Amino acid sequence: MPTVREIQSKAGDEPITMLTAYDAVMAGLVEEAGVDIALVGDSMGNAVLGYEDTLPVTVEEVASRCGAVARGTDEALVVADMPFLSFGTDLQTGIENCGRMLKEAGANAVKIESGEHTLELTERLAHLGIPVMAHVGLTPQSVNQTGYTRQGSDPEQAREIARLAREHEEAGAFACILEHIPANLAEQITDELSIPTIGIGAGKHCDGQVLVINDVLGLSERTPPFAEAFGNVREEMQSAIGEYVEAVEESEFPAEEHSHVADELDELY
Ligand code: KIV
Repeated sequence: MPTVREIQSKAGDEPITMLTAYDAVMAGLVEEAGVDIALVGDSMGNAVLGYEDTLPVTVEEVASRCGAVARGTDEALVVADMPFLSFGTDLQTGIENCGRMLKEAGANAVKIESGEHTLELTERLAHLGIPVMAHVGLTPQSVNQTGYTRQGSDPEQAREIARLAREHEEAGAFACILEHIPANLAEQITDELSIPTIGIGAGKHCDGQVLVINDVLGLSERTPPFAEAFGNVREEMQSAIGEYVEAVEESEFPAEEHSHVADELDELY
């Protein structure tokens, strides 16, 4: 497992790779592919838990999934995404919830959707030895205020995002996600910060890239405009499940090789 320092030292030399994972199987696959960071994203809300958005996701759900991901990987840095209202209400609750991810769930770091209200928390966590990944630009937990639209296209918004990123670096964040912002804004932030930036829908000038695993696999029904499916796992799964159902309905499964017959079995009835 790399430390956050090792992740930081990669920046500038080669791109940092990051993907979400929500269970041990996916974590194993992500690790086998050489991904640097496995993010136990609150995107699990839409991706695997059947919610409309990320808002209902609980600390328990992230902790449980994070435990599975941590058990499924030895070599990727495991980052737990702090769900809506698990931080930002009061400092103590935020620290305790983030601490649980490291103490109980096997995370190496936490990610927090950042705002003015997360600066003090970021600073305290960094002092306590809990590495924090900041997240600016589109922050999906604010969907009721911003929707899922691109952020930072006008100069005032862009300045605000750039300021937040810098202030979180100063507060002690070890990396910063830049989500759905113009590529030239992401480039300026990346040049300005000394911590790595990880982009999602933020162009190619970031120090690393992250996507939701379901989008990469081609498992999602809908994908955001900045994502790309690198496979067609949904079709593969549908075909395998369809073939199984057909085989059962046609009494072709189980076949003889899937069954055994006991030699000496008394008549039971
Ligand atoms: O929850 C998540 O998966 C995320 C990434 C998309 C950055 O926040």
